[in-house]
Amino acid sequence: MQDYPTPRALETDEIPGIIADFVYAARSAVDAGLDGVEIHAANGYLVHQFLAPSSNQRTDAYGGTPENRARLAIEVVTAVSEVIGVERVGIRISPSHNIQGVVEEDAADVAATYRALVDGIAGLRIAYLSYLADPRAELTRDLRARFGGPVIGNDGFGSVTTLESAQAILDEDLADLVAVGRPVLANPDLVERWKAGAALNEPNSATFYGGDAEGYVDYPTLSATA
Ligand SMILES: Cc1cc2nc3c(=O)[nH]c(=O)nc-3n(C[C@H](O)[C@H](O)[C@H](O)COP(=O)(O)O)c2cc1C
Repeated sequence: MQDYPTPRALETDEIPGIIADFVYAARSAVDAGLDGVEIHAANGYLVHQFLAPSSNQRTDAYGGTPENRARLAIEVVTAVSEVIGVERVGIRISPSHNIQGVVEEDAADVAATYRALVDGIAGLRIAYLSYLADPRAELTRDLRARFGGPVIGNDGFGSVTTLESAQAILDEDLADLVAVGRPVLANPDLVERWKAGAALNEPNSATFYGGDAEGYVDYPTLSATA
């Protein structure tokens, strides 16, 4: 972790370079052997900062209206897809996650912004849309319908994903797949444990985002503890 610089709004003529950075990173990932990339438009990072009116106070074509605030996300997804192929690109969104100073509290504005984003990328037919949101919320369901392709669901940090909560998302047809965070981090053999109904290792939040390997590579498998 390092000290944060004081944030500033990008100049309009800097934005093509930011999009080029995403393209460069995506191409590098694929060249290095990865199957694809997920455009991180969630959790308070740069693309999300453009989506939210609390952090985006721009007066150019990338700020103001919902459509303008969705523009950067659409342009990044489009540019990355052109270079590495739509089948290798996913996107993660977290409407109203309200984290890291990126606050989306006006429900009508949130709906308009994320509908603009999803409508702007739906025609590309990228690999998937992944959400961190209430799977049962009307907006979440609407975004899934608008996207029209594979959707990965996750209901956020409020409760840790369980086999039952993941299965419920699928059974209620709220997503095509479920993203699992903390249980899979703490259990390298989570699939086997869930299949066997075995006990799980508890995730240790003190090692989250820790900057080194501790808490990422050292949880025991079932066979190691047997
Ligand atoms: C250590 C850690 C790192 C994470 N990194 C990311 C990330 O890079 N991008 C992202 O969209 N979500 C990230 N998340 C959030 C997870 O994808 C997931 O939404 C969250 O953990 C809630 O799901 P869970 O109950 O299954 O843990 C991270 C979570 C944890 C605990």
